[in-house]
Amino acid sequence: MSAITIRQAQPADFERINAVIDEWWGWPVAHMVQRLFLDHFFATSLIAEEPGGALAGFVVGFHSPSVPDHAYIHFTGVAPEHRRAGLAHDLYNQFFAAARGAGCTTVRAITSPLNEVSIAFHRSVGFSVSEPIPDYDGPGLERVIFSREL
Ligand SMILES: CC(C)(COP(=O)(O)OP(=O)(O)OC[C@H]1O[C@@H](n2cnc3c(N)ncnc32)[C@H](O)[C@@H]1OP(=O)(O)O)[C@@H](O)C(=O)NCCC(=O)NCCS
Repeated sequence: MSAITIRQAQPADFERINAVIDEWWGWPVAHMVQRLFLDHFFATSLIAEEPGGALAGFVVGFHSPSVPDHAYIHFTGVAPEHRRAGLAHDLYNQFFAAARGAGCTTVRAITSPLNEVSIAFHRSVGFSVSEPIPDYDGPGLERVIFSREL
């Protein structure tokens, strides 16, 4: 775990995330992390790598251009073999520090109410969790909102 390094993302990291994301989640989610997120939000996104360069984890997020005091985390993943070692926690802390430095005071994210691991992880790093909101992302797409002060 201590040998893993965290760096700013680059647009080319899109391919590496795209190649593993469905396997890491265990269901199809690649269509939700399109190339645009790395092309336009790489400067606020983070990549965790093993010493040999293999992808160990990532955070895709941004400082909202429309709501300047809000940061938003779109997707976070950690490779199955690196889970429960604090890597997502470290990635989030680095994202929070940069967002604070940019003047953000709140960070938000969302997930499906079925994603119990995501809910447990976000609670553990201090997010409040809303009640499930029916049709949040369109018909049948129920979501919970995570919110945390920075
Ligand atoms: C959610 C995810 C990013 C967590 O990454 P991680 O590096 O394992 O998380 P951490 O080791 O930093 O965990 C911090 C805390 O979160 C909670 N947590 C993490 N994984 C958990 C699990 N499987 N079950 C219950 N609680 C969990 C625990 O409180 C944990 O602290 P502890 O290990 O001391 O008990 C990872 O499990 C993952 O990639 N899952 C698949 C993708 C996904 O669902 N992402 C959700 C965000 S879009």
